[in-house]
Amino acid sequence: MWDYTDKVLELFYDPKNQGAIEETGEAGVKVATGEIGSIACGDALRLHLKVEVASDKILDARFQTFGCTSAIASSSALTEMVKGLTLDEALKVSNKDIADYLGGLPEAKMHCSVMGQEALEAAIYNYRGIPLAAHDDDDEGVLICSCFGITDTKIRKAVAQNNLLSAEQVTNYVKAGGGCGSCLTKIDDIIREVKQETAKPNLNTNGVKATTEIASSMFNGGQQKPLTNVQKIALIQKVLDEEVRPVLIADGGDVELYDIEGNKVQVILKGACGSCSSSTATLKVAIEARLRDRISKEIIVEAV
Ligand code: FES
Repeated sequence: MWDYTDKVLELFYDPKNQGAIEETGEAGVKVATGEIGSIACGDALRLHLKVEVASDKILDARFQTFGCTSAIASSSALTEMVKGLTLDEALKVSNKDIADYLGGLPEAKMHCSVMGQEALEAAIYNYRGIPLAAHDDDDEGVLICSCFGITDTKIRKAVAQNNLLSAEQVTNYVKAGGGCGSCLTKIDDIIREVKQETAKPNLNTNGVKATTEIASSMFNGGQQKPLTNVQKIALIQKVLDEEVRPVLIADGGDVELYDIEGNKVQVILKGACGSCSSSTATLKVAIEARLRDRISKEIIVEAV
């Protein structure tokens, strides 16, 4: 069970500003939309901003999110935070600001705050007619994590801004490393480089001590780590997409991943599966047994 703050739970159970904002042709007003993430990766957010053209002020903000408790709370918090700001002021909102507004997020859920900040940036640049790739310095970076399409630039930014010290933390913030795990060594290298760059101004005073402390806190002697929650989510989604859904779809049904908490996997049975008298068997045999076989014997699947 995640340790959520009261504010996270409040905005999850009673989200503010859920939904879309449509263009109505109202004079002096335009709608900006930014979309980040993909359902295949576990989270997706579409952010809508109603902007007063003359002042660049955000009059209203709404969101549509596919994701977990913290994704919904982060999206809701973001919309509350940016209302009344100008676009330039909104661009200064960081993922840390979103997490702070919520009174903090479990570290494994920090990627939800990053997703909010990125959707905000995407909406504003779309509004300004600047293609995402043209303003996004990621396009000049080297692809590090092919599972999630994350470059070294994005990882460096997350490490520097949030003072990250391990590859597991990077996965929690930007998902890199959360799939097959083959990029984890490269992520460790990037963390070491960023920390060395950060430590350089202090070398004349206590540089030796600083780099020694950083190095010892970054690495765990190459021991095998258990799956992070993000890695687990990505694997579960992959097994559902590649091994379960094709079978169900062939029978006129389908399944959608709804949420994951620890080893409890909640799914929505759809189509013929939703009304089928043998839906319990579908859950236990087609889905739970497959996930236990592929990922963990502890997994329990429930329909919501
Ligand atoms: S390449 Fe990064 S997790 Fe697979």
